[in-house]
Amino acid sequence: MSSTGNGAKVTVIGGGHVGLPTAVVLAHFGHEVVLAESDPARFEMLQRGESPIVETGLEELLSDALRLGTLRIARTAAEAVGEAEFVFLCVPTPQGNDGAVDLSFVEAVTDEIKESLRSGTIVVNKSTVPVGTAALLERVTQRIGIRVVSNPEFLREGSAVADSLHPDRIVVGADDPADAQKVGQLFAATGAPVIATDTTTAEAIKYAANAYLATKLSFVNALADLCETVGADVDALMAGLGHDKRIGFEFLRPGPGWGGSCLPKDTSALLQRAEVVGHDFALLRGAIAQNEDHMERVVQKVARASGGHLEGAPIAVWGLTFKAGTDDRRSSPATEITRRLVRAGARVSAYDPTVPDNTGESDLAGITVVPTAYEACRGARVVALLTEWGEFASLNFTKVAALMETPAVVDARNLLDPTTLRSLGFSYEGIGRT
Ligand code: UGA
Repeated sequence: MSSTGNGAKVTVIGGGHVGLPTAVVLAHFGHEVVLAESDPARFEMLQRGESPIVETGLEELLSDALRLGTLRIARTAAEAVGEAEFVFLCVPTPQGNDGAVDLSFVEAVTDEIKESLRSGTIVVNKSTVPVGTAALLERVTQRIGIRVVSNPEFLREGSAVADSLHPDRIVVGADDPADAQKVGQLFAATGAPVIATDTTTAEAIKYAANAYLATKLSFVNALADLCETVGADVDALMAGLGHDKRIGFEFLRPGPGWGGSCLPKDTSALLQRAEVVGHDFALLRGAIAQNEDHMERVVQKVARASGGHLEGAPIAVWGLTFKAGTDDRRSSPATEITRRLVRAGARVSAYDPTVPDNTGESDLAGITVVPTAYEACRGARVVALLTEWGEFASLNFTKVAALMETPAVVDARNLLDPTTLRSLGFSYEGIGRT
């Protein structure tokens, strides 16, 4: 088993944001990979070598692997696992109504494959699951000689391929250290350190990482808010912090609040789990509350820039995805803030490079989606920049000003240059900027 041949037989179940990059990268490392995708439309796309998600470099690796025959796409999990030495579970674990994790996809797929697995196969769980789930799953599978290993994923949407090729670390939790070693070996080509531990600790590491990142961002955004109150400049403040190697520059950019399909879900799940076991995780509760308040502050900034009220106000929005480089709007602060503007009575015209105009999707109800950033500004009183798409920085702002009713910008990503904009007659408000 190596990156140059004698690859392992690996099945990946679920061709989504985690499963698809995992499958193509494992194929790239020389393993024989079968990817099971049950959604018919996604299956067809994958077979054609087309990526159903926006992800830099993914389509190239997908097409290469299909052409070289290191990757095959299957319609069902059961038909994909027969020969596998390793079966990766990469299925969704959405948030249930009570904030806890909904494990129904993991349970359904385990049920579907358990008869088709050959004895000795290692089931590797990459789906984010509550601490203790691998141990529970193993109780189901050990009767048929199947071990469950936990291998949490740390890739980010938008840079999933690069993160999978060059991870900071590989975490593997297993009851038997030999199993951990075998799973770690699948990723030998990355050269990343392998943290081998038990399944429960591996699952906890995943939640700890996302909770830490969310808390760091809430701290950063809270500092930015404080900068506004005391008249300090957040850009210099962050430079002053980031150069301290113990703090570092990563995850130090203030924004409209943190979101996406993972940080909000995983922090809520961890908080809920802590409550169940009687642990008061006040720090994490505070980080989540700060994020809520921070998004509301952005809404209030837009209201102030529009003359103190939003009722009937024409507002332009730039960006709807939860960050740049992805087409994902799940728990997107940009979409949430836009919806709050609409609820407050604003007439919103929004543009995002990944959202077709007049899309009619339910999360965008009441928002007029237009095909260009300029179009969104026509007649607007304020433009709110909510996602850091690079194209917004290179617009012709003289043209933007001419299109608007009044040239006013709320830059919730600190992407634009305040001096240039003010010299063009804009009023400018960033996050924590003087
Ligand atoms: C996050 C983690 O970063 C990954 O390590 C993890 O694997 C993933 O969740 C997951 O659990 O699957 P992702 O959801 O892709 O990755 O998004 P991030 O890049 O972490 O961004 C999260 C939020 O923080 C976004 O709303 C982003 O705009 C915001 N952010 C990030 C900032 O506001 N400032 C920053 O400096 C960085």
